[in-house]
Amino acid sequence: MELDTHAYNDYIASLFAAPDSALTETLADMERGNIPGINVSAVEGKLLQILALAIGAKRILEIGTLGGYSGIHLARALPEGGKLITLEIDPHHAEVAHRNFERAGIGHKVDIRLGPASTALQEMADAGEPMFDLIFIDADKGGYTEYMRQSLPLLRDGGLMLGDNTLPDAVLTHEDSGTKRYNTAVALCPELTTIVIPILRQHGLDGLTVSFKRSDGLALKGKEE
Ligand SMILES: C[S@@+](CC[C@H](N)C(=O)[O-])C[C@H]1O[C@@H](n2cnc3c(N)ncnc32)[C@H](O)[C@@H]1O
Repeated sequence: MELDTHAYNDYIASLFAAPDSALTETLADMERGNIPGINVSAVEGKLLQILALAIGAKRILEIGTLGGYSGIHLARALPEGGKLITLEIDPHHAEVAHRNFERAGIGHKVDIRLGPASTALQEMADAGEPMFDLIFIDADKGGYTEYMRQSLPLLRDGGLMLGDNTLPDAVLTHEDSGTKRYNTAVALCPELTTIVIPILRQHGLDGLTVSFKRSDGLALKGKEE
């Protein structure tokens, strides 16, 4: 039976994650552009922002831009001179996101890279892209594990790797969309200390997998050696 989380979510959202006009317009713009509402919730957007602020993120990589809703939350956590690089395969999504970043006044902090994420990540590795403080994976679930492996060398020590929508598919379905494999891969990765944070939705629960990087291989695995 699905947990009715509506009231809990609304309480948190109204007190801590009330939308401003840029966020409201972003969602309206997506709807007008027939872009599916598969963005993070307002509450999760605020959580992403707080995680970025907590580690003093100056460079953030997002995989999966959509209309720019999560990107606005992340870019707002950046100081002046900070950068959000966000990867998107769909030109229409990228165009709408560009408009929304500009309207939100953070366009100068955002670099949208169009094309398959795996190609963009390979190009970054080849070009010697500077390290990121935070990486947020929120694209095709089948690609999550590969995106994690490709982008982990680009994450600084003490940085955060985040994977979205990692709970229901991993637990409730027999077929793995990719998130179960992702959760297993980060759990076993010697460089990462990981937990899944359950995320309230209007209806039901989802999960955000949060991994902290320690490249000395001394990640805390929560089990006896
Ligand atoms: C769940 S949505 C992202 C939501 C967004 N992060 C937000 O919360 O506002 C996933 C996005 O990933 C994009 N995508 C899917 N496969 C991709 C790929 N192989 N490379 C890059 N982007 C991809 C989709 O076009 C879609 O815009």
